[in-house]
Amino acid sequence: MKITIIGQGAIGLLWYYKLSQCSKNKVTILCSSSIAKTPSEMQFLSDGTWQKAPLTMAHKKNLMHAELVIFCLKAYHYQAAFNDYLPFISPSTPLILCHNGMLMTESLPAQNSLLTLLTTHASKKHQAFAIEHTGQGTSDIGLLCGNLSAKTAKQLTKVLNNALPETIWSEHIQEKQWRKLAINCVINPLTAMNNCDNGAITRQKFLPDINAILSEFIQVAQAQQINFNLTELTALVLNVAQSTATNCSSMRSDILHNRPTEIAHINGFIVRLGKKLHIETPINYALTQAVTELSNQGLPNKKSSTS
Ligand code: PAF
Repeated sequence: MKITIIGQGAIGLLWYYKLSQCSKNKVTILCSSSIAKTPSEMQFLSDGTWQKAPLTMAHKKNLMHAELVIFCLKAYHYQAAFNDYLPFISPSTPLILCHNGMLMTESLPAQNSLLTLLTTHASKKHQAFAIEHTGQGTSDIGLLCGNLSAKTAKQLTKVLNNALPETIWSEHIQEKQWRKLAINCVINPLTAMNNCDNGAITRQKFLPDINAILSEFIQVAQAQQINFNLTELTALVLNVAQSTATNCSSMRSDILHNRPTEIAHINGFIVRLGKKLHIETPINYALTQAVTELSNQGLPNKKSSTS
């Protein structure tokens, strides 16, 4: 299958490397124009040794040949990427979107079938094109909008699963997306604001905030016909915080490295949707404001061990 990955982040490179290991795939990668010079190969750290793989670059003009395009971008880069690349992609090519947070439905392109890929694999960038697969996870893929035949769904799942198991097809991808959003709405801003590892937010003192974030979240989700129970959702979030106890969340890491955060697509998404639906979301609003302020002022003196 002819596959193009858009985005050279840790997850984009992980899929690029894994998919290109299968000889049946012809994989190319389209990197950000901010990268002045791209190397001819990437490196992958496996069992303590660095493996090399050729990097085959994609260009806008040959996107037309792609049978599958996988976007692995930060949520805030999607709008510009859609504007830039969609005119070059065939309307019959399925697009897979892989990101944290949510994109507003009105910003999604209507011409292609859109799939969401939710992954719990962890990948760490050591250098620009050198990554390590730091956490074995699983991936769910499902249809967000548009049409996709059962045969194509099966074929895409097989290609992804062969490359990076276990990837499973989900008929309930939207519900899974909301579950992941709940996890990110709690862990990301609390760890960023408190400059702590994920496990720290399981402490008793965070429970009132967790309860308030999730109560607002559940009301907004319910208005979208996605139903959650507060006790179960709290348990799920605490469980993820516990199982990733020593991790530095992506948002905390963004703050520590003076990068923009995805807050507008995580808690900010709940605030915007709440406003539209006339649902009050004061704690999600306060966290969105606080993280935005923190991200603007930066933390130049603080260091993190992960990225
Ligand atoms: O964004 C993140 O960091 C991750 O999605 C999660 C699950 C919060 C773990 O760190």
